[in-house]
Amino acid sequence: MADKVEIKGAEGRTVAVENPSTGAHLATVSAAQAADVDRAVQSSLAAFNSSWRRSEHSTRRALLNRLADLIERDAEELASLEAVDAGMLYRMSLGLSVAQAAETCRYFAGWTDKLDGQSMRIAEGMAYTQREPIGVCATIVPWNAPLMITIWKLAPAIAAGNTLIIKTPELAPLYGQKLARLVAEAGFPPGVINVLCGLGHVAGQTLSEHPLVRKVSFTGSAAVGRRILESSARTNLKRVTVELGGKGPTCVFADADWENALAHVTAGITVHNGQICAAGSRIYVQDEIYDRFVEEFSKRTRDAVAGDPLLDTTVKGPLVSANQRARVEGYIQKALKEDTKLLHGDAGSQAPSKGHFVPNTAFVDVQPSATIMREEVFGPVASIARFRTEEEVIALANDSEYGLSAAVFTNDVTRAMRISDAVECGQVTVNMWGTVNANTPFGGYKQSGFGRDLGKEGLDEWTNVKCVKVNLNLSRL
Ligand SMILES: *[C@@H]1O[C@H](CO)[C@@H](O)[C@H](O)[C@H]1NC(C)=O
Repeated sequence: MADKVEIKGAEGRTVAVENPSTGAHLATVSAAQAADVDRAVQSSLAAFNSSWRRSEHSTRRALLNRLADLIERDAEELASLEAVDAGMLYRMSLGLSVAQAAETCRYFAGWTDKLDGQSMRIAEGMAYTQREPIGVCATIVPWNAPLMITIWKLAPAIAAGNTLIIKTPELAPLYGQKLARLVAEAGFPPGVINVLCGLGHVAGQTLSEHPLVRKVSFTGSAAVGRRILESSARTNLKRVTVELGGKGPTCVFADADWENALAHVTAGITVHNGQICAAGSRIYVQDEIYDRFVEEFSKRTRDAVAGDPLLDTTVKGPLVSANQRARVEGYIQKALKEDTKLLHGDAGSQAPSKGHFVPNTAFVDVQPSATIMREEVFGPVASIARFRTEEEVIALANDSEYGLSAAVFTNDVTRAMRISDAVECGQVTVNMWGTVNANTPFGGYKQSGFGRDLGKEGLDEWTNVKCVKVNLNLSRL
């Protein structure tokens, strides 16, 4: 089985994969070059044209459900791969990434026979719309939760009748080899789903520029998002959707449920070391509870000892790479240089000597202009500040070029709704942080990007709308 589905890269180039918690070499994976990308595109186009574009709903539904079954069957293996490769805690991968991957397959499997249009009356007679697949699509996937985010793209793309090329992240590609085997085992026709590992500026760029690829869905950094948009603009104007991270504001009011707020706010910036685009990295706390809240926040997060993500007892894993660690440490140094007040986070104190560990870090009384209040750190670094009134916290929350996800903690339901209404973000969570649901749309405002993953809106992104107009008044021309 494996021999049939795996192909070596054209020029023998490879990507070396390491375990971020030890720095040890894990595996060597073929790095797709332009010729490999082209081969994948040709195979994807052949599959699309030969039969996939006209495949039955029931075929696509059965295949997606079968893939969900296989993901669940091999959940432990997939979670182990994400743990050793992406540094995600094993139990988080199992409970979130892998579980959501299966759930998302099933959710979109249910949409396959509900992709209907509308009918309208027009002066000449009747019009109706139908949703059609776009054709050969591609997704370029980030390393932070690679399996789950891959399936956010794969399931709706396939449900809508597209073929898909997946470019896995070079920092964490191992789940991709496994996924490709599951796709083959589930019985997807050859070429419907192709998986490539490779460098962003080689394989990712070739996909973005390829004249036969009609859509790219990207989740990752703003810098790469811009390059993909430029590639599309320069070549065939392929559709591009981008989810480019955030600087999530979290607003904690004095009347909030204390335990609930603390549990969610601490999770919001420590889970997966804050390497989550919806991380709650800007924490605004109301004056009356500020000192007490900050003290308790510090108590609960400062001593988290990092360790092996495979162990059940580990609460904190490594960052994904040495580069990412250097980047996060650079932000911490910059904050100190800007005289931002450190609450806790003494680099290196308890971290194991090997691996890319950064202690949980927090700054308090952070000014709106501070770099760590404005830029996405993508690490376990909290920026905390005080607010007095609702108007003030809305202004602070909106004072960002990002607009992905916000959180509000209050027991006043009308206030929660007023803030949800005023905050410029694609998602607002009330009295919680960080829920992922297959049936709710997720995506950004402002420079957090555009397009949506998940939900009905996520499905629409993978279709073209055709409008058919029928003249019913032949004699009256
Ligand atoms: C967000 O807050 C800013 C500053 O208070 C305000 O100008 C803007 O209108 C707000 N956005 C919305 C959608 O209310």
